[in-house]
Amino acid sequence: MKLTELLAAVVALSAAGVSAHYRFDALIVGSTTTAPYQYVRQNTNYNSPITDVTSLDFRCNAGGLASAAATQTVTAAAGSTVGWALDQAIFHPGPINVYMAKAPGNAASFDGSGSVWFKVYEIRPVTNGGTSITWPADNISSFTFQLPSSLPSGQYLVRVEHIALHSASTFGGAQFYISCGQINVTGGGSGNPGPLVAIPGVYTGREPGIMLNIYYPIPATYTQPGPAVWRG
Ligand SMILES: *[C@@H]1O[C@H](CO)[C@@H](O)[C@H](O)[C@H]1NC(C)=O
Ligand SMILES: *[C@@H]1O[C@H](CO)[C@@H](O)[C@H](O)[C@H]1NC(C)=O
Repeated sequence: MKLTELLAAVVALSAAGVSAHYRFDALIVGSTTTAPYQYVRQNTNYNSPITDVTSLDFRCNAGGLASAAATQTVTAAAGSTVGWALDQAIFHPGPINVYMAKAPGNAASFDGSGSVWFKVYEIRPVTNGGTSITWPADNISSFTFQLPSSLPSGQYLVRVEHIALHSASTFGGAQFYISCGQINVTGGGSGNPGPLVAIPGVYTGREPGIMLNIYYPIPATYTQPGPAVWRG
């Protein structure tokens, strides 16, 4: 291969690598997909994942604290359908977790610090004792879920993470694709969401569902990272 051909191949390969990445850029409210970054905090790292689960960027992605004030807050009723849309379909195998945290005041001025996050939704893989493992989040460009009816009214951050596990067999190999949106929950109830965790803090990076080889041997079971889903 000539040097120019080699360079072209390297450029093509790295372009493919970048385009394989994806961003959760919009909230879905009811049946409406909102505009990209209208209610989602803009990040500053293009479509790169976060790999350090102890980093402050692990909370709302790189730039996700600085862009809070510039982000609007969308109103959604407790018990209604909300969700996330992506700029392109999810490419890598892995699970999804969605966390929420109630702001003491406005979501746009909340940094999400402290043990304030509870899990509200998750998409797990399907295992069958070691014959195969499949990932229902593969290839999706959006997903929706229901806000619990007993979720108290008020403003919340809603944080999505897709954990790409294609090179997760060594520490730090899992890739986290993260976004935070801002939601104003109305008509809520008197539920007591939990268990509450801090983000960062919720993971060490050595959890069985974060540091593992998903290819060989095929995992017989899978332990979804994080606390149990709060169902209201
Ligand atoms: C993802 O979509 C592509 C293109 O439609 C398809 O070839 C591929 O099999 C799909 N992968 C999964 C895991 O569904
Ligand atoms: C949140 O909803 C309440 C009740 O409808 C409304 O009064 C308030 O203006 C909303 N806040 C935001 C930021 O949308």
